[in-house]
Amino acid sequence: MTERGILIVEGNSEQRKRIECLLSAISDNIVAADFDHLRRMTDQSQHKSPLWAEVQELIATAKQESGQSKPVKRSKDHRSPELFRCLVGSSHGLMQVKKAIMQVADSDTNVMLLGESGTGKEVVARNIHYHSPRRGRPFVPINCGAIPSELLESELFGHEKGAFTGAISSRRGRFEMAQGGTLFLDEIGDMPSSMQVKLLRVLQERCFERVGSEKTVKSDVRVIAATHRDLDSQIESGKFREDLYYRLCVFPITIPPLRERVEDLSALVECLLDRLKNERQARITLTESAMTALRRYLWPGNVRELANLIERLLIMYPNQRVDIADLPGKYRPHIEIEQLDRSAPGHHADNSFSCPQLPAGGLDLRQYLADVERSLIEQALVEADGVVARAAEILRTRRTTLVEKIRKYQLEVNPPRREFDGQVAVNS
Ligand SMILES: Nc1ncnc2c1ncn2[C@@H]1O[C@H](COP(=O)(O)OP(=O)(O)O)[C@@H](O)[C@H]1O
Ligand SMILES: [Mg+2]
Repeated sequence: MTERGILIVEGNSEQRKRIECLLSAISDNIVAADFDHLRRMTDQSQHKSPLWAEVQELIATAKQESGQSKPVKRSKDHRSPELFRCLVGSSHGLMQVKKAIMQVADSDTNVMLLGESGTGKEVVARNIHYHSPRRGRPFVPINCGAIPSELLESELFGHEKGAFTGAISSRRGRFEMAQGGTLFLDEIGDMPSSMQVKLLRVLQERCFERVGSEKTVKSDVRVIAATHRDLDSQIESGKFREDLYYRLCVFPITIPPLRERVEDLSALVECLLDRLKNERQARITLTESAMTALRRYLWPGNVRELANLIERLLIMYPNQRVDIADLPGKYRPHIEIEQLDRSAPGHHADNSFSCPQLPAGGLDLRQYLADVERSLIEQALVEADGVVARAAEILRTRRTTLVEKIRKYQLEVNPPRREFDGQVAVNS
């Protein structure tokens, strides 16, 4: 199993860049950084102490794992620790989650995080760890659904040399790595039954043995589990042990899906844009109508899907204004020009135009209507191949009115491809 690592390199940034280059040629599992760089990042960040604390946490982990401060090992997850610290949102649902985090963090109680995929279960788990007295010790995540069942036992509890074919040396498991800290059992609903029994024993007796060893190891680990599955029905169908469920579910926290807290959308978009600012060197501005469309979308992939959309829009429209018409089709369900049956004579757009929902936080009506108007004019102009008179027909408005609006919104009108004679199409 490959490990990811940060190699702490002293020296100037040129040297570090060269080392990074060389490292990336050798392995994509090691990154280089120096303490000054990490410190500067921490100083510049708005989340000063948390990020620096995470760095200290990583160093503590490294010292514990390697005996000394050799290359700093971190969990397999290569995402920036900063990403996990912030839990953006102030909706009622998320405030309840934050309250629950603060209530449970101090104790050693086992926590069960429930919620759809992408709602932020790992972010919450890291926050619980961070706010707990264990924060200076390791946070060790393991995805129980991603590891083949025959490897899961050794992954969790470690093994001795020769314990099974391929065990060429002895190895610590995640429980040992998390000693004094927190073990995050992600996708616990996917854990095979045979492992569920073994996990139950550790939770009850607080000790375990490595595979191939008879020596009992004491475990001082706080367990946080998470699943997107409905564990009640898993129990009913015999896939999940009820006794384990009660052990793990001492303090359940349910993270609401994004569609139930659309008030958080603007803050999340801002946060995701900030995260990508350095990487992409660009920003985008979403118009009010684009935001309204996003608020109405159901977000089956939750915040993870939103993050992917923002990244996609940044690539497509760097440093531009993103309007509803620029959003990929599935995100703009209520002004779908494609939905119109244009072949039907006398068909009026308003027949198939479903009324937008007023967002919970209200909206700037003037700006919203202007955005919608602008977007529809742009679409009509594309449809009319740049011929303003034709666009005016599509919009059932007078040509002169449309010309005025085109000027008002400073829209670019592409001249008709066929008859272009150097004249500006607005005057056609
Ligand atoms: N409230 C939030 N604030 C900021 N980022 C979030 C929030 N919730 C989720 N994310 C981001 O969304 C992505 C998915 O979160 P994650 O915790 O992995 O979800 P889950 O474990 O529920 O599938 C991550 O990039 C995470 O940083
Ligand atoms: Mg997850």
